[in-house]
Amino acid sequence: MVKSDIENSREFMSVANLLAKPELPELDADRFIDIDLFGQDMKANAPAYFSEWATKPPFYATVQGHAHVVICRHEQVQWALRTHEIISAVPHQGWGTDLFDYFNGLPLVVDFDPPEHSRMRRLMQPGFAPNRISRLKPLIDSMIDDLAKVMAEKNGFNMVTDFAGPLMYQILLGGVFEFEPDVWPLFINLSNALELVATVPPGAPKPPEYMAAFDAVYEFCGKLIEDRRINPKDDLVGSVIAAHDEKGAISIEELFSTLVQLFTAGLGTVPATSSNAVLRLLRHPDQLALLRKDPSLLNMALEECMRVDCLGNFRHRFVVKEHVIDGTPVYPGMVAHLALGAANYDPDKYPDPTRFDITREPRDILTFGFGPHLCPGNNLARMVTRAIVSRLIFGFPDLRFTNPDEVIVYGGMPTERFPINVNLSVN
Ligand code: HEM
Repeated sequence: MVKSDIENSREFMSVANLLAKPELPELDADRFIDIDLFGQDMKANAPAYFSEWATKPPFYATVQGHAHVVICRHEQVQWALRTHEIISAVPHQGWGTDLFDYFNGLPLVVDFDPPEHSRMRRLMQPGFAPNRISRLKPLIDSMIDDLAKVMAEKNGFNMVTDFAGPLMYQILLGGVFEFEPDVWPLFINLSNALELVATVPPGAPKPPEYMAAFDAVYEFCGKLIEDRRINPKDDLVGSVIAAHDEKGAISIEELFSTLVQLFTAGLGTVPATSSNAVLRLLRHPDQLALLRKDPSLLNMALEECMRVDCLGNFRHRFVVKEHVIDGTPVYPGMVAHLALGAANYDPDKYPDPTRFDITREPRDILTFGFGPHLCPGNNLARMVTRAIVSRLIFGFPDLRFTNPDEVIVYGGMPTERFPINVNLSVN
């Protein structure tokens, strides 16, 4: 197997590059906020922080000893997401970049600016073809029904690990990718190992468990390409290969990065988002009662849930050109965190933003991003989230917390609000 590209990528992420700190001018101390952007306190109390920050100009925060800028206002976050000549998606070679290097420096769609970005995006488009998504709907409904019956027979269940998580494996690996169950563990192991990347200090080698999981999927993709040359098939992998073949044969790296991004981007996000929605509704019995009385409010209610509990607190970008945003200077070499979650609390856009109101009909929430990188999975994600949440709240009128005093602990990627212990009971 040829590994030259991957080895080059690893060299690019070499310790020497990673430890070179960018030179920044002296920054105004008053513009710093003392906050651990990725800590448990941030994840657990994000709505409180966000409602405070949503009216502020960009501020600086220290991450691993280095000044990053945090952009919070709705309009400014949208601006940053489309102004790649100042705030770019392309990772710079500099200190701290490996904090976000989940795939060993491999080219990922999220790491490109237009126009190169559109080529990578085209490769994954077959995964989101409307007919493919609508074909999945009955399969998804029947998977949810089967799982819900199992939950009904248990005294209690963890919504993430017993219900929404396993469901998403089935939907993505079985439904979207059409893979046989025996290869599912390869992808599940890699997805579980991604969080380990954030545990190593700048410049340190990646953890061995992560490397083993990465190499296993890489090898699988190599074999898949060889196999498909001999046995072409009209499934997602076949369409990705075909979408690429207009320009030449697909490389292992490209198939790998396309499949793994589709998989990892979808796997945890939907269980976490639907769990956050159920948590929010159970904590607001008046709104839950309103929804149960009028199920036609479901779509609007879910948009409001995703507004107040945006899964990704921040999306990272890299400043490439000096600029002043609302009075705050930003400099090349700085990492920029675009606070999607804070933008969803901007009172100019959402009056009285801390009020959870399922009849609000919030427009332009930034939970799925904005601009060229807008989540291509957002229709699938909304469809599955709707199916999960509606099955639980309408199918189980007595749905409740197993222990109402249990404190919710958040895990997931450093920037995500991924609730872990969503323990529920039904009779
Ligand atoms: C509720 C669930 C989801 C949420 C909250 C979510 C959120 C996001 C956000 C905020 C972005 C923009 C990233 C950026 O600008 O840097 C994004 C991009 C992306 N998402 Fe999702 N996502 C979800 C579900 C999914 C699903 C189900 C899939 C695929 C099966 C998916 C695939 C992707 C991909 C491939 C990208 C990269 C697009 C690009 O860079 O052009 N997502 N997602």
